[in-house]
Amino acid sequence: MRLLKTALLTGAFAASMMMTAAVAQDIKIGFIVKQPEEPWFQDEWKFAQQAADEKGFTLVKIGAEDGEKLIAAIDNLGAQGAQGFIVCTPDVKLGPALVAKAEANGLKMMTVDDRLVDASGAAIESVPHMGISATKIGEAVGQAILDEAKARGWALAEVGAIRVSYDQLPTAVDRVEGAIATLKAGGFPEANIFDAPQAKTDTEAALNAATTVLNAHPEIKHWVAFGLNDEAALGAVRATESVGITADNVIAVGIGGAESAINEFKKPDPTGFVGTIIISPKRHGYETALNMFDWVANDKAPEALILTAGALATRSTYEAVRKDLGIE
Ligand code: GLA
Repeated sequence: MRLLKTALLTGAFAASMMMTAAVAQDIKIGFIVKQPEEPWFQDEWKFAQQAADEKGFTLVKIGAEDGEKLIAAIDNLGAQGAQGFIVCTPDVKLGPALVAKAEANGLKMMTVDDRLVDASGAAIESVPHMGISATKIGEAVGQAILDEAKARGWALAEVGAIRVSYDQLPTAVDRVEGAIATLKAGGFPEANIFDAPQAKTDTEAALNAATTVLNAHPEIKHWVAFGLNDEAALGAVRATESVGITADNVIAVGIGGAESAINEFKKPDPTGFVGTIIISPKRHGYETALNMFDWVANDKAPEALILTAGALATRSTYEAVRKDLGIE
């Protein structure tokens, strides 16, 4: 405040410059993610930090794998004097509790990736949100799978699909249902689509879920697989490998395009992981952090709902696609 007063005395221009600097220094914004070890979330943090460095505010990165940790993290941000936070919650049903917690701590809240729901399961529209266009991106997954199956000359009646699912998360349902709608429209037999519910959204949980499906259907000749993210698709691929199904009989397409997918593309021999829909951690990290900064510093609330797009990448195209999206 002392800084501000001096500035006001030295003319309007100098005043506004110094105010921005003084305000930015005092701003602290939290960025809480549900799965800090997942490359997607590491990238979000990286790009959010870029926004903090550019604007001069402090970014507090917190991993909260369950509701208890998340509630403690919000209280902690409040105690530290933060003004707002961005969150990808471990459980969207915590919605009303998080809204109350943020309010009690005087913190502005924006969600990223996973949108909060109320007690009836409806999206909480009062909390600004940035997520992916889940259905569209799921459809792109389905199309990529169909195209590859066609290129390999597979008869769809002989193909099984592993739907790696996490149905308590609406964006996960939208993604897999988008893929299924496109597969069915392309002639994929509905009876050959098998649900593989995962207990967590990581590779290991997907591997376990997919293994159960594979063991139950030895009659299937070729397999396709898809799910919430790259980890889901990769888990299914690891499952096929572990039961001895060769890569030429597997087509899995993920969503994400972060390190887990890229490392797979870099393997000398192609695996069953043939593609990923690359989404933008830059938009989800950098842009949400800027949105929150603007909200705190300039009282400019973010748009209520921002949906981001994706682009298919394969072993042979991922470098160019990443470059196009400005993520390297
Ligand atoms: C969810 C998934 C992440 C990632 C994001 C993208 O949070 O769990 O792996 O796909 O959506 O929005």
